[in-house]
Amino acid sequence: MIKPSKRISEIAPSMTLAISAKAGELKAAGEKVISFGVGEPDFGTPAHIVQAAKDALDSGKTKYVAAAGLPALKKSICKKLKEENGLDYEPAQIIVSNGAKHSIFNAVFATLEEGDEVLIPKPYWLTYPEVIKSCGGVPVYIYATPRHGYKVTAAQIEAMITPKTKMLIFNSPCNPTGAVYTESEIRDIAEVCLKHNLIVLADEIYEKLIYGGETHFSIASVSPEMKENTIVINGVSKSYAMTGWRLGYLAAPLPVAKAIASFQSHSTSNVNTMTQYAAIAALDGDQQPMYDMVKAFGERREKMLEVLEGMKPLGFDYVKPDGAFYVMLLCYDLYGKSFNGEKVHDSLHLCDLLLTYEKVAATPGICFGDDDAIRLSYALSMEDMLEGLRRIAHFASQLK
Ligand SMILES: Cc1ncc(COP(=O)(O)O)c(C=O)c1O
Repeated sequence: MIKPSKRISEIAPSMTLAISAKAGELKAAGEKVISFGVGEPDFGTPAHIVQAAKDALDSGKTKYVAAAGLPALKKSICKKLKEENGLDYEPAQIIVSNGAKHSIFNAVFATLEEGDEVLIPKPYWLTYPEVIKSCGGVPVYIYATPRHGYKVTAAQIEAMITPKTKMLIFNSPCNPTGAVYTESEIRDIAEVCLKHNLIVLADEIYEKLIYGGETHFSIASVSPEMKENTIVINGVSKSYAMTGWRLGYLAAPLPVAKAIASFQSHSTSNVNTMTQYAAIAALDGDQQPMYDMVKAFGERREKMLEVLEGMKPLGFDYVKPDGAFYVMLLCYDLYGKSFNGEKVHDSLHLCDLLLTYEKVAATPGICFGDDDAIRLSYALSMEDMLEGLRRIAHFASQLK
């Protein structure tokens, strides 16, 4: 019998699997399940982007291209990084991959040695620890508390650094908390990272999804030295509603980018060619559809926060998120209370009860390393969102 390797056996199975399987069964049985679990925009890809892919197909752009990305796309990415983030990269420093997730894997694989420690602010996007472990690294968590807006400070980071610390994962805007770091917080963090020569993996995939006057600031743009210590991750999935197309990219110091280009040429090779043409249209074309989507998310966020405020007497709390399309609903006050004689014990259990009794799907906070909350996405229609929140409140009102 073939046994999976030790390396791959250490990867945790997805904790959300049971909940999404149950939600699927309920839907198949005709139930109206409201899903707050979604991690992707509910908007379609803008028409001009879809058209660019069709044009690429119609004009025979169906062959292999350079493994690390079409030169024309790399040029568009360099222009974007320069104009929007103040970052000067040459095309050879850009690697285009199958989604930002793939870019993150490449970046970690290319830089970690066995036993290297990687600092991850917690709550975290659930893929980070698994990628780090699969590359021989050791995840080390720094607790970003709700009291501090789900953000870690430079001092907290410094306190966790050991001789083995190699990297910091820095995700702003953050999934799952929606936290957006300010420029001055980022400058402080950069200073500590430079002092201890840490690589920063800056996951900026939610860059465009910022509300309420905050702005995105790339940690790589702090100084030329910081840029040399940073690998910037971005992509088109979230900003341009292109999750299924699978295109992300990274920008890195030249030796790292070259090593990743070689590795990618022997692993996945190029992202499908038509998607690369679509990504050029996304980056260089009309930005209005993206602005419209961000505006809609902003309106839902406002409404969601207004309703959550009214739900506080039921034992809920939250931290106002400034970015992405998620909010962590703090619900630890509900733990220990009973529903029909059954005690709610943790975030996984709460999500299971919400799904069973209210037909509401949400993601348990424990998936992101934080059992105190459940994650609600507002990438669903306003109508469904309000109905879903009403159901959550109904559930909580029955607890004793
Ligand atoms: C923080 C974060 N980084 C990266 C990704 C991956 O994006 P992609 O779909 O481009 O692989 C996600 C997707 O959920 C995410 O939430």
